[in-house]
Amino acid sequence: MAKLPWQRVWIIGASTGIGFEIAKQLAAAGVEVAASARNVDHLAGLAHIHPFKLDVTNAASVAKTFQNIGDNLGPVDLVIGAAGKYKPVFSQELSLEDFRSTLDVNYMGVINMLDAVLPAFRARRSGHVAWIASVAGYLGLPKSAAYGPTKAALINLAEGLKPELEQFNITTSVINPGFVRTPMTDGNDFPMPFLMEPVEAARRTIEGLAKGKFEIAYPTRFVLILKTLRLLPNWAFFAITRRLIGPPASKP
Ligand SMILES: NC(=O)c1ccc[n+]([C@@H]2O[C@H](COP(=O)([O-])OP(=O)(O)OC[C@H]3O[C@@H](n4cnc5c(N)ncnc54)[C@H](OP(=O)(O)O)[C@@H]3O)[C@@H](O)[C@H]2O)c1
Repeated sequence: MAKLPWQRVWIIGASTGIGFEIAKQLAAAGVEVAASARNVDHLAGLAHIHPFKLDVTNAASVAKTFQNIGDNLGPVDLVIGAAGKYKPVFSQELSLEDFRSTLDVNYMGVINMLDAVLPAFRARRSGHVAWIASVAGYLGLPKSAAYGPTKAALINLAEGLKPELEQFNITTSVINPGFVRTPMTDGNDFPMPFLMEPVEAARRTIEGLAKGKFEIAYPTRFVLILKTLRLLPNWAFFAITRRLIGPPASKP
Protein backbone atom coordinates (compact mmCIF):
# COMPACT_ATOMS: atom_id res chain seq x y z
CA MET A 1 0.00 0.00 0.00
CA ALA A 2 1.27 3.51 -0.87
CA LYS A 3 2.28 5.77 2.00
CA LEU A 4 -0.82 6.90 3.83
CA PRO A 5 -1.35 10.48 5.04
CA TRP A 6 -2.30 9.56 8.63
CA GLN A 7 -0.29 8.60 11.72
CA ARG A 8 -3.26 7.80 13.94
CA VAL A 9 -6.80 6.81 13.00
CA TRP A 10 -9.80 6.18 15.25
CA ILE A 11 -12.43 3.77 13.94
CA ILE A 12 -15.73 3.36 15.78
CA GLY A 13 -17.33 0.04 14.79
CA ALA A 14 -14.01 -1.72 14.29
CA SER A 15 -14.76 -5.12 15.84
CA THR A 16 -16.16 -6.86 12.73
CA GLY A 17 -16.96 -6.34 9.07
CA ILE A 18 -15.84 -3.29 7.09
CA GLY A 19 -14.51 -1.35 10.11
CA PHE A 20 -12.39 -4.31 11.21
CA GLU A 21 -10.97 -4.76 7.69
CA ILE A 22 -10.11 -1.06 7.49
CA ALA A 23 -8.38 -1.35 10.88
CA LYS A 24 -6.35 -4.38 9.73
CA GLN A 25 -5.28 -2.79 6.45
CA LEU A 26 -4.31 0.50 8.09
CA ALA A 27 -2.37 -1.35 10.80
CA ALA A 28 -0.58 -3.43 8.16
CA ALA A 29 0.53 -0.15 6.57
CA GLY A 30 1.99 0.98 9.91
CA VAL A 31 -0.79 3.39 10.95
CA GLU A 32 -1.68 3.35 14.67
CA VAL A 33 -5.37 2.44 14.90
CA ALA A 34 -7.59 3.14 17.89
CA ALA A 35 -10.33 0.55 17.43
CA SER A 36 -13.67 1.01 19.19
CA ALA A 37 -16.82 -1.10 19.50
CA ARG A 38 -18.69 -2.78 22.34
CA ASN A 39 -16.77 -6.07 21.87
CA VAL A 40 -13.07 -5.45 21.39
CA ASP A 41 -11.38 -8.20 23.45
CA HIS A 42 -10.40 -10.14 20.31
CA LEU A 43 -8.46 -7.08 19.05
CA ALA A 44 -6.00 -7.12 21.97
CA GLY A 45 -2.47 -8.01 20.91
CA LEU A 46 -2.86 -7.15 17.21
CA ALA A 47 0.08 -5.04 16.01
CA HIS A 48 -0.71 -1.31 15.68
CA ILE A 49 -4.35 -1.88 16.79
CA HIS A 50 -5.33 -0.40 20.16
CA PRO A 51 -8.76 -1.46 21.43
CA PHE A 52 -10.92 1.13 23.21
CA LYS A 53 -14.22 -0.44 24.30
CA LEU A 54 -17.12 1.89 23.57
CA ASP A 55 -20.88 2.05 23.08
CA VAL A 56 -21.25 4.82 20.50
CA THR A 57 -24.77 5.68 21.69
CA ASN A 58 -23.32 7.08 24.93
CA ALA A 59 -22.13 10.60 24.06
CA ALA A 60 -20.19 11.07 27.31
CA SER A 61 -18.30 7.79 26.74
CA VAL A 62 -17.48 8.81 23.18
CA ALA A 63 -15.99 12.10 24.40
CA LYS A 64 -14.06 10.32 27.17
CA THR A 65 -12.71 7.71 24.75
CA PHE A 66 -11.48 10.43 22.39
CA GLN A 67 -9.69 12.03 25.34
CA ASN A 68 -8.17 8.65 26.35
CA ILE A 69 -6.93 8.01 22.83
CA GLY A 70 -5.28 11.43 22.70
CA ASP A 71 -3.65 10.88 26.10
CA ASN A 72 -2.40 7.35 25.29
CA LEU A 73 -1.62 7.42 21.57
CA GLY A 74 -1.42 11.09 20.61
CA PRO A 75 -3.61 13.23 18.36
CA VAL A 76 -5.84 11.47 15.85
CA ASP A 77 -5.67 12.59 12.18
CA LEU A 78 -8.73 10.72 10.87
CA VAL A 79 -11.89 9.38 12.53
CA ILE A 80 -14.19 6.88 10.83
CA GLY A 81 -17.72 6.21 12.06
CA ALA A 82 -18.39 2.64 10.96
CA ALA A 83 -20.78 1.47 13.70
CA GLY A 84 -24.09 0.35 12.31
CA LYS A 85 -27.25 -1.62 12.95
CA TYR A 86 -29.55 -3.09 10.31
CA LYS A 87 -32.86 -4.89 10.77
CA PRO A 88 -34.39 -5.88 7.43
CA VAL A 89 -38.10 -5.94 8.23
CA PHE A 90 -41.24 -4.36 6.85
CA SER A 91 -42.53 -1.20 8.49
CA GLN A 92 -45.49 -2.96 10.13
CA GLU A 93 -43.18 -5.44 11.87
CA LEU A 94 -40.99 -2.77 13.43
CA SER A 95 -41.26 -1.66 17.00
CA LEU A 96 -40.64 1.90 18.12
CA GLU A 97 -37.57 0.51 19.85
CA ASP A 98 -36.16 -0.74 16.52
CA PHE A 99 -36.55 2.71 14.96
CA ARG A 100 -35.02 4.43 17.99
CA SER A 101 -32.05 2.11 18.43
CA THR A 102 -31.22 2.14 14.71
CA LEU A 103 -31.28 5.93 14.73
CA ASP A 104 -29.21 6.00 17.94
CA VAL A 105 -26.42 3.81 16.59
CA ASN A 106 -26.35 4.81 12.92
CA TYR A 107 -27.07 8.52 13.04
CA MET A 108 -26.59 9.75 16.61
CA GLY A 109 -23.45 7.60 16.83
CA VAL A 110 -21.87 9.77 14.14
CA ILE A 111 -23.16 12.93 15.81
CA ASN A 112 -21.62 11.80 19.10
CA MET A 113 -18.34 11.16 17.28
CA LEU A 114 -18.39 14.63 15.67
CA ASP A 115 -19.30 16.28 18.96
CA ALA A 116 -16.25 14.66 20.55
CA VAL A 117 -13.65 15.35 17.88
CA LEU A 118 -14.61 18.60 16.15
CA PRO A 119 -13.63 21.05 18.91
CA ALA A 120 -10.06 19.67 18.85
CA PHE A 121 -9.93 19.51 15.04
CA ARG A 122 -11.23 23.07 14.76
CA ALA A 123 -8.75 24.35 17.34
CA ARG A 124 -5.78 22.87 15.52
CA ARG A 125 -7.27 23.56 12.06
CA SER A 126 -6.71 20.08 10.70
CA GLY A 127 -8.30 16.63 10.66
CA HIS A 128 -10.44 14.33 8.56
CA VAL A 129 -13.90 13.10 9.57
CA ALA A 130 -15.54 10.20 7.71
CA TRP A 131 -18.53 7.97 8.22
CA ILE A 132 -20.14 5.00 6.53
CA ALA A 133 -23.62 5.71 5.22
CA SER A 134 -24.87 3.39 2.43
CA VAL A 135 -26.25 3.34 -1.09
CA ALA A 136 -29.49 2.59 0.79
CA GLY A 137 -29.45 6.29 1.68
CA TYR A 138 -29.87 7.31 -1.97
CA LEU A 139 -33.47 6.13 -2.18
CA GLY A 140 -36.27 4.66 -0.10
CA LEU A 141 -36.46 0.89 -0.47
CA PRO A 142 -38.89 -1.69 0.97
CA LYS A 143 -37.63 -3.49 4.11
CA SER A 144 -35.51 -0.46 4.96
CA ALA A 145 -37.92 1.70 6.95
CA ALA A 146 -35.65 1.90 10.00
CA TYR A 147 -32.24 1.67 8.34
CA GLY A 148 -32.60 3.62 5.07
CA PRO A 149 -33.64 6.97 6.58
CA THR A 150 -30.64 6.93 8.96
CA LYS A 151 -28.31 6.48 5.98
CA ALA A 152 -30.07 9.21 3.97
CA ALA A 153 -29.59 11.47 6.98
CA LEU A 154 -25.87 10.64 7.11
CA ILE A 155 -25.41 11.59 3.45
CA ASN A 156 -27.34 14.83 3.98
CA LEU A 157 -25.26 15.54 7.09
CA ALA A 158 -22.02 15.15 5.15
CA GLU A 159 -23.23 17.45 2.37
CA GLY A 160 -24.27 20.08 4.89
CA LEU A 161 -21.10 19.97 6.98
CA LYS A 162 -18.46 19.74 4.26
CA PRO A 163 -18.40 23.47 3.31
CA GLU A 164 -18.53 24.54 6.97
CA LEU A 165 -15.70 22.23 8.03
CA GLU A 166 -13.56 23.23 5.06
CA GLN A 167 -13.31 26.68 6.64
CA PHE A 168 -11.36 25.02 9.45
CA ASN A 169 -9.26 22.91 7.07
CA ILE A 170 -11.18 19.78 8.12
CA THR A 171 -11.89 17.19 5.41
CA THR A 172 -15.29 15.43 5.28
CA SER A 173 -15.90 12.06 3.59
CA VAL A 174 -19.01 9.91 3.33
CA ILE A 175 -18.64 6.24 2.40
CA ASN A 176 -21.54 4.61 0.55
CA PRO A 177 -21.04 0.87 0.13
CA GLY A 178 -23.38 -1.43 -1.74
CA PHE A 179 -23.72 -4.98 -0.39
CA VAL A 180 -20.62 -6.19 1.47
CA ARG A 181 -20.24 -9.68 2.96
CA THR A 182 -20.15 -9.02 6.74
CA PRO A 183 -22.02 -10.23 9.85
CA MET A 184 -24.57 -7.50 9.05
CA THR A 185 -25.54 -9.04 5.71
CA ASP A 186 -24.88 -12.71 6.59
CA GLY A 187 -28.52 -13.20 7.61
CA ASN A 188 -30.05 -11.64 4.48
CA ASP A 189 -32.42 -14.05 2.76
CA PHE A 190 -32.67 -12.08 -0.51
CA PRO A 191 -30.29 -11.81 -3.47
CA MET A 192 -27.55 -9.21 -2.93
CA PRO A 193 -26.44 -7.89 -6.32
CA PHE A 194 -22.74 -7.10 -6.79
CA LEU A 195 -21.90 -8.46 -3.30
CA MET A 196 -18.38 -7.34 -2.40
CA GLU A 197 -15.82 -8.87 -0.03
CA PRO A 198 -14.90 -6.72 3.00
CA VAL A 199 -11.21 -6.76 2.03
CA GLU A 200 -12.05 -4.99 -1.23
CA ALA A 201 -14.51 -2.60 0.47
CA ALA A 202 -11.82 -1.61 2.97
CA ARG A 203 -9.21 -1.21 0.22
CA ARG A 204 -11.47 1.13 -1.76
CA THR A 205 -12.40 3.05 1.37
CA ILE A 206 -8.79 3.66 2.36
CA GLU A 207 -7.85 4.61 -1.20
CA GLY A 208 -10.69 7.16 -1.38
CA LEU A 209 -9.94 8.58 2.06
CA ALA A 210 -6.24 8.95 1.23
CA LYS A 211 -7.25 11.02 -1.80
CA GLY A 212 -9.51 13.15 0.41
CA LYS A 213 -12.56 12.24 -1.69
CA PHE A 214 -15.93 13.51 -0.49
CA GLU A 215 -18.00 10.50 -1.55
CA ILE A 216 -16.49 7.01 -1.67
CA ALA A 217 -19.09 4.71 -3.23
CA TYR A 218 -18.80 1.13 -4.49
CA PRO A 219 -19.29 -1.13 -6.39
CA THR A 220 -19.40 1.39 -9.26
CA ARG A 221 -22.00 -0.38 -11.42
CA PHE A 222 -24.45 -0.80 -8.52
CA VAL A 223 -23.95 2.84 -7.50
CA LEU A 224 -24.68 4.03 -11.05
CA ILE A 225 -27.82 1.88 -11.29
CA LEU A 226 -29.19 3.22 -8.01
CA LYS A 227 -28.32 6.85 -8.79
CA THR A 228 -30.07 6.48 -12.16
CA LEU A 229 -33.11 4.92 -10.49
CA ARG A 230 -33.33 8.00 -8.30
CA LEU A 231 -33.57 10.21 -11.40
CA LEU A 232 -36.68 8.43 -12.72
CA PRO A 233 -40.12 10.06 -12.36
CA ASN A 234 -42.02 8.77 -9.31
CA TRP A 235 -44.40 6.54 -11.30
CA ALA A 236 -41.44 4.68 -12.86
CA PHE A 237 -39.47 4.61 -9.61
CA PHE A 238 -42.37 3.03 -7.66
CA ALA A 239 -43.18 0.64 -10.51
CA ILE A 240 -39.73 -0.83 -9.87
CA THR A 241 -39.60 -0.73 -6.06
CA ARG A 242 -43.15 -2.20 -5.79
CA ARG A 243 -41.75 -5.36 -7.37
CA LEU A 244 -39.31 -5.74 -4.49
CA ILE A 245 -42.09 -6.61 -2.04
CA GLY A 246 -44.31 -9.66 -2.09
CA PRO A 247 -48.09 -9.80 -1.48
CA PRO A 248 -49.50 -7.62 1.35
CA ALA A 249 -48.67 -8.88 4.84
CA SER A 250 -51.65 -10.15 6.88
CA LYS A 251 -50.88 -7.74 9.74
CA PRO A 252 -52.32 -4.21 9.10
N1 LIG B 1 -22.39 -4.80 4.87
C1 LIG B 1 -23.03 -4.05 4.00
O1 LIG B 1 -23.55 -4.55 2.98
C2 LIG B 1 -23.14 -2.57 4.20
C3 LIG B 1 -23.61 -1.79 3.15
C4 LIG B 1 -23.71 -0.42 3.30
C5 LIG B 1 -23.34 0.16 4.50
N2 LIG B 1 -22.90 -0.61 5.52
C6 LIG B 1 -22.54 0.07 6.78
O2 LIG B 1 -21.19 -0.22 7.06
C7 LIG B 1 -20.99 -0.09 8.47
C8 LIG B 1 -20.28 -1.34 8.96
O3 LIG B 1 -21.18 -2.44 8.80
P1 LIG B 1 -20.71 -3.93 8.53
O4 LIG B 1 -21.38 -4.39 7.33
O5 LIG B 1 -19.24 -4.00 8.64
O6 LIG B 1 -21.43 -4.67 9.74
P2 LIG B 1 -20.92 -5.37 11.07
O7 LIG B 1 -19.86 -6.36 10.77
O8 LIG B 1 -22.14 -5.81 11.76
O9 LIG B 1 -20.22 -4.17 11.87
C9 LIG B 1 -20.93 -3.26 12.63
C10 LIG B 1 -19.96 -2.65 13.62
O10 LIG B 1 -20.67 -1.69 14.41
C11 LIG B 1 -20.37 -1.92 15.78
N3 LIG B 1 -21.46 -1.44 16.62
C12 LIG B 1 -22.78 -1.76 16.55
N4 LIG B 1 -23.44 -1.15 17.54
C13 LIG B 1 -22.52 -0.41 18.22
C14 LIG B 1 -22.59 0.45 19.35
N5 LIG B 1 -23.75 0.68 19.99
N6 LIG B 1 -21.45 1.03 19.78
C15 LIG B 1 -20.26 0.80 19.16
N7 LIG B 1 -20.14 0.00 18.09
C16 LIG B 1 -21.26 -0.59 17.64
C17 LIG B 1 -20.19 -3.44 15.86
O11 LIG B 1 -19.43 -3.80 16.99
P3 LIG B 1 -20.02 -4.33 18.39
O12 LIG B 1 -21.24 -5.17 18.09
O13 LIG B 1 -18.87 -5.09 18.95
O14 LIG B 1 -20.32 -3.11 19.18
C18 LIG B 1 -19.38 -3.68 14.59
O15 LIG B 1 -18.01 -3.38 14.84
C19 LIG B 1 -22.37 0.12 9.07
O16 LIG B 1 -22.58 1.49 9.29
C20 LIG B 1 -23.31 -0.37 7.99
O17 LIG B 1 -24.58 0.23 8.09
C21 LIG B 1 -22.79 -1.96 5.40
